[in-house]
Amino acid sequence: MTTRTGCRHFVSVKDFTADEIIDVIDLADTLKQERVAGAEPPRLAGKTLGMIFQKPSLRTRVSFETGMTQLGGHAIYLAPADISLGQRETTEDIALVLSRYCDLIMARVFGHDIVTEMARHATVPVINGLSDREHPCQILADLQTIRERRGGLAGVRCVYSGDGNNVAHSLMYGAALTGMHLAVVTPPGFEPDGDILADARQLGETRDARITATTDLAAASRDADVIYTDVWASMGQEEEAEARKAKFAAYQVNETLLANAAADVTVLHCLPAHYGEEITYTASRVPGSAIFDQAENRLHAQKALMVRLG
Ligand code: CP
Ligand code: NVA
Repeated sequence: MTTRTGCRHFVSVKDFTADEIIDVIDLADTLKQERVAGAEPPRLAGKTLGMIFQKPSLRTRVSFETGMTQLGGHAIYLAPADISLGQRETTEDIALVLSRYCDLIMARVFGHDIVTEMARHATVPVINGLSDREHPCQILADLQTIRERRGGLAGVRCVYSGDGNNVAHSLMYGAALTGMHLAVVTPPGFEPDGDILADARQLGETRDARITATTDLAAASRDADVIYTDVWASMGQEEEAEARKAKFAAYQVNETLLANAAADVTVLHCLPAHYGEEITYTASRVPGSAIFDQAENRLHAQKALMVRLG
């Protein structure tokens, strides 16, 4: 997304081209190696990241904040009560004010329209740290993780089982841009957004990415290379959590499901996990599980993103 102020934003995975996504993941790999070698140049020295949170976070907050420190910059955490986005002050004014202090803004919000509005008005790059529609930073880390585990992305057969939510939407765009095959498997009534599905399919055509939405988990997961799941009720849907348990029970990632997939299947979960609901504890700890690599790669992938935007 480029707004009238002319700066680049990362509000959706598809704000970047396929080449740009690969470039960010390549840089993330380099940053990861540099960190292991203890030889990291301070690529963002003197830069400040403003981080707005309307919702709780462990990974997003800590990975962005430590990432900025490691790059020689500084991050400021703005908790929900600090700025009361939309109540104490308008999104437009917050974007304009933060743009006068900060070099980058990251926002975790309820409505996707809030982060797009912020990007429209900000004169510095805005990064979506999760909205009700997308979680693009998560998918950068996931693509890095899948490539580490599977040796590539094009042609990898990935199955997402659970709610057709923000993570599923961003994963669809991620698959489209890298040529992964993706089946999003949900209970009836919890399918991903139809417009995003159509958009991702069209975007993925040139790379032969097969992106489907189905309710048949057994068929979709047969010989799958990657099985991914996320909570059944997202932040903001807590009152639906109990009622969803019965509807989603057949979509749990467990040992029976993994036995149907490739023998070396990679198991992914963006975390936080609700063990015994969308994934069993045992399934989360199989040798193919990469869930803590995913969490670690948030750090490297977002550092790479900030370097490219900053
Ligand atoms: N996966 C993820 O975004 O985690 P947090 O909600 O803890 O930031
Ligand atoms: N779909 C989840 C992802 C959490 C990282 C949520 O929005 O709560």
